[in-house]
Amino acid sequence: MTQIIGVIGAGQLAKMLGEAAPDLDLNILALANDADPCAKNTVELMIGDEIDRQVISDFAQHVDVLTFEHEQIKTEIFHDLNVPIYPNVAAVRIAQNRDLEKNFLKDLDIPVPPFFVVNSLAELEAAVTKMDYPCVIKTIEGGYDGKGQKVLKQKTDLASIWRELKEAILIVEAWINFDREVSLVAVRAVNGDILFYPLSENLHRDGILRVSKAPYDDTKLQQLAEKYVTKISNKLDYVGVLTVEFFQCGEQLMANEMAPRVHNSGHWTIEGAQCSQFSNHLRAVSGKPLGSTKPKGYSAMINIIGQWPKQWEKVKNLSWLYLHDYAKASRVGRKLGHLTIVAATAQERDQKLQQVLDVLEL
Ligand SMILES: Nc1ncnc2c1ncn2[C@@H]1O[C@H](COP(=O)(O)OP(=O)(O)OP(=O)(O)O)[C@@H](O)[C@H]1O
Ligand SMILES: [Mg+2]
Repeated sequence: MTQIIGVIGAGQLAKMLGEAAPDLDLNILALANDADPCAKNTVELMIGDEIDRQVISDFAQHVDVLTFEHEQIKTEIFHDLNVPIYPNVAAVRIAQNRDLEKNFLKDLDIPVPPFFVVNSLAELEAAVTKMDYPCVIKTIEGGYDGKGQKVLKQKTDLASIWRELKEAILIVEAWINFDREVSLVAVRAVNGDILFYPLSENLHRDGILRVSKAPYDDTKLQQLAEKYVTKISNKLDYVGVLTVEFFQCGEQLMANEMAPRVHNSGHWTIEGAQCSQFSNHLRAVSGKPLGSTKPKGYSAMINIIGQWPKQWEKVKNLSWLYLHDYAKASRVGRKLGHLTIVAATAQERDQKLQQVLDVLEL
């Protein structure tokens, strides 16, 4: 019998999971909030409100295993369902809350930026006086693509920031003057087998990922990142793809955050690795053997954000450029698709990447 993988969420990550499913003889049923989600052409859909316990327990009746395309879930409604949930709800809970996440990482002796959690305007003011500028204030839950964050470069009116960030629990974090940002995408099977993709180097603008390049060839850093992610995933008894974002400072890595799911910085693996992060996530949660995480060459991934580039016609026929169009309407800051380049050498990859960025004016 073909297994049915239930995915909470039906955006572009579910779409790409859906693209990987047929080769593995798996079916995907995704829970969508509306009838016209991004994933509609690659998965079966059930429409319902994912914060409704009744909807989740009905959904669970229709699937063999449950997984997530995003971590903004109400974890308490996922208890006592009669299907396996991978990754487990405790892991998702930690990854969705910056306070739990940073303390969890600290307890594992994984460096994180200095931080204070604050519950009131007075606590916010006290925390900021203990930090140097710049520092960054983040909501502890619900942020993505740099949303729910304020960078303070100098003394600023904190009352308005407190109001703007919805008077929620916040975290004040030291701004790290990193050399670069890297992420490690790992996949762990039910039996504890774990594989790692090579590190990806990530370039952000305005808090949003613009470009990822992989492999970031640095054996020592790769080993250090693998050591940290092994600790994290063993401690959580994690199953599926897990991504950890790091700030690299010299030979050190500082964990920024973790994502309990397939990740934008791993999209290059679709064309650029033997087995993609999407295929490996499905393999892990369905109990199939993991596939090779070896790269096929040197890849770069470019996010298309906000609107489709006007000069698109000029690059669309390049044989080495792969297009993923999420078929979403334009909107400021929205991820509409991505492009992947795979080349034989890092130099050739960088040259092709620059060519595409220049033509598209990105
Ligand atoms: N403490 C920091 N020091 C330096 N840069 C930071 C810091 N915190 C965040 N940034 C920058 O902002 C980006 C987004 O921050 P972060 O990853 O915390 O937010 P997010 O909204 O959860 O993002 P994501 O889309 O990855 O979920 C980081 O990748 C980094 O470029
Ligand atoms: Mg991030």
